[in-house]
Amino acid sequence: MVPKMGAITNSLLSNTIVFFLIFFYLEVTVHGKRHQFSRVVSPASVGLKEEKITQLRVYWHDIVNRSNPSAIQVAAATMTNTSPTGFGSLMMIDDPLTEGPELSSKLVGRAQGFYSSASQTEVGLLMAMNFAFMDDKYNGSTITVLGRNTVLSKVVEMPVIGGIGVFRYSRGYVQARTHKFDPTTRDTTVEYDIYVYHY
Ligand SMILES: *[C@@H]1O[C@H](CO)[C@@H](O)[C@H](O)[C@H]1NC(C)=O
Ligand SMILES: *[C@@H]1O[C@H](CO)[C@@H](O)[C@H](O)[C@H]1NC(C)=O
Repeated sequence: MVPKMGAITNSLLSNTIVFFLIFFYLEVTVHGKRHQFSRVVSPASVGLKEEKITQLRVYWHDIVNRSNPSAIQVAAATMTNTSPTGFGSLMMIDDPLTEGPELSSKLVGRAQGFYSSASQTEVGLLMAMNFAFMDDKYNGSTITVLGRNTVLSKVVEMPVIGGIGVFRYSRGYVQARTHKFDPTTRDTTVEYDIYVYHY
């Protein structure tokens, strides 16, 4: 006997209903008892109002040749010494960030991270730094700069990829201009103009 069309539809329908009842039962019993690991929140409930752009200007001091350097070489490859671009060298930094171009001016933060020679054809660094601010309302806030630094360029632009504290949800860029380079000590002062979108 060929079953009637209606019978097939009815059994499909009831199977579907049973399936969903089981599914929702499992959903409640399994997932309902677990810790909820995600939820949707409104921007206002986490304090996000209007996005704004802040511009900051700081001076970055890379002190390499003193009894108390702020930048130290932590790695190099065997070929680094013979590479015209120092390819493979890795410097760890804890560089002071000051308000004015002089190292003696007000300390507003520190640039902590590393830079590494990542190019074999020109002087090109990979820079990964957290600018940890310690002044005023920025105390404890950071921005993260991750980019390519073609050191000999007049202006070097690198992305700001994030931040915490007042700089939560940051994105933006920095423009770095060498302010002073001492060929004897190799100490460098770089002006950083920072533009960040944040809330
Ligand atoms: C910044 O915060 C730290 C830790 O909370 C505190 O010890 C320090 O005094 C603060 N500095 C300024 C300049 O407010
Ligand atoms: C460090 O600086 C002094 C001059 O202040 C210079 O004579 C010396 O060669 C430098 N050393 C290095 C490793 O650059």
